[in-house]
Amino acid sequence: MRLTILGGGGFRVPLVYGALLRDHDEPRVDEVVLYDVDAGRLSAVERVLEQMARQATRQATGAHDAPLVVATTDLEEALGGTDFVFSAIRVGGLEGRTRDEHVALDLGVLGQETTGPGGLAYGLRTVPEAMRIADTVVRVAPRAWVINFTNPAGMVTEAMQAVLGDRVVGICDSPIALARRAATALGLDPARTRADYVGLNHLGWLRGLVHDGEDVLPRLLADPSALRGIEEGRLFGPDWVQALGALPNEYLYYYYYARDALASIRAEPATRGDYLLQQQRAFYDAVAARPARAYEEWQRVRAERDATYMAEVRSEDEARDEADVAGGGYEGVALAFMAAVMRGTATTMILNVRNGTTVAGLPRDAVVEVPCLVDAAGARALSTTPPDPHQLGLMSQVKAVEQLTIAAARSRDVGLATTAFALHPLVDSVSVARELVRGYRIADLFGGA
Ligand code: G6P
Ligand code: MN
Repeated sequence: MRLTILGGGGFRVPLVYGALLRDHDEPRVDEVVLYDVDAGRLSAVERVLEQMARQATRQATGAHDAPLVVATTDLEEALGGTDFVFSAIRVGGLEGRTRDEHVALDLGVLGQETTGPGGLAYGLRTVPEAMRIADTVVRVAPRAWVINFTNPAGMVTEAMQAVLGDRVVGICDSPIALARRAATALGLDPARTRADYVGLNHLGWLRGLVHDGEDVLPRLLADPSALRGIEEGRLFGPDWVQALGALPNEYLYYYYYARDALASIRAEPATRGDYLLQQQRAFYDAVAARPARAYEEWQRVRAERDATYMAEVRSEDEARDEADVAGGGYEGVALAFMAAVMRGTATTMILNVRNGTTVAGLPRDAVVEVPCLVDAAGARALSTTPPDPHQLGLMSQVKAVEQLTIAAARSRDVGLATTAFALHPLVDSVSVARELVRGYRIADLFGGA
């Protein structure tokens, strides 16, 4: 099977390749095509993968051949006849991420990669590219499954579904990581628990955790010291988690603690984007200068990136749990999806899929993040109990904003973009929305329309 990775020069690509190296079942991916607009980054990642494969072959006994890697800067060539597509692109690069953050922060509202106005700005410039990819897939690889990592993942997946239907699913590591932490905090094997999770991407709640037929989440919610043992418990505080009766996704910190989040981000000398821009530049430069040490350097920088994840909203003395830094998750969900489709072994996992009738009150074509059953026919949302009114209200408002953003991007309509910013729960005034549109130069993005 062939897997095409769009954004193949990206820093997290080796995680996916590493997971493929560890996958010994049949059928499996034996060829990986890396596509990127930046040839320099592509060759850096190629060096990392070569060295990774060499080390894996040395260490493993009786290991299969490492998947062949080819790289290209031609989208059609990359996609032609492929079986699976991972889309993990970053339109505008990390420079774009820093602009998304700073324009909003300068106007006194949240400046973050995917949540709030920064996420809308990111969506506005990413949706057109995602549509171009979807159109190309339909033309040159109509049978391929597309796994979308590209953020804002819910919005981008929904836009691509208009062309690809259910052949595209969206992936995020945060719900699975949350469920895994909750199980571990209770001393349970995460693999033997089933998560009752509902939401949109980066806006969801773990409402239950079933082990041997029993919902064990109430036990965790009632135990402040166990709660303090996991990231979400510390971030939200046991009292707030208890008040909600559910464990929120970490990204909900930006809503429930909006002022605190804004204050701590503004108090930092650099945003997450600023930090990563420097770190990643240095990484690609280092690999270009010392290609023989690419894998070693990647491992070092990866540990650093993971250890500092969301540091801007964690208290200063709080280190991340080692299991979280090591655990990853992103590549695991992607591989589990491919394995279930290729081998037809039914698996349950949390994915971004078409709502249909899963969450009453949300549009049928809305993409939601819920537990799904995946097999050779793809992913289907499992039926679920209704979200509570506050959850549904928040999901509903953010979904409306996402749909307006997609429509604005597709029709290049500045008015729709302004409405989207204005209706976002984290933008507190229509006048700020207008300033955001000016600050982000949305009219320029739409060709001066
Ligand atoms: C998590 C989220 C991703 C997001 C990433 C940011 O993994 O689920 O959607 O892109 O964090 O991490 P970074 O290291 O880029 O700040
Ligand atoms: Mn995510």
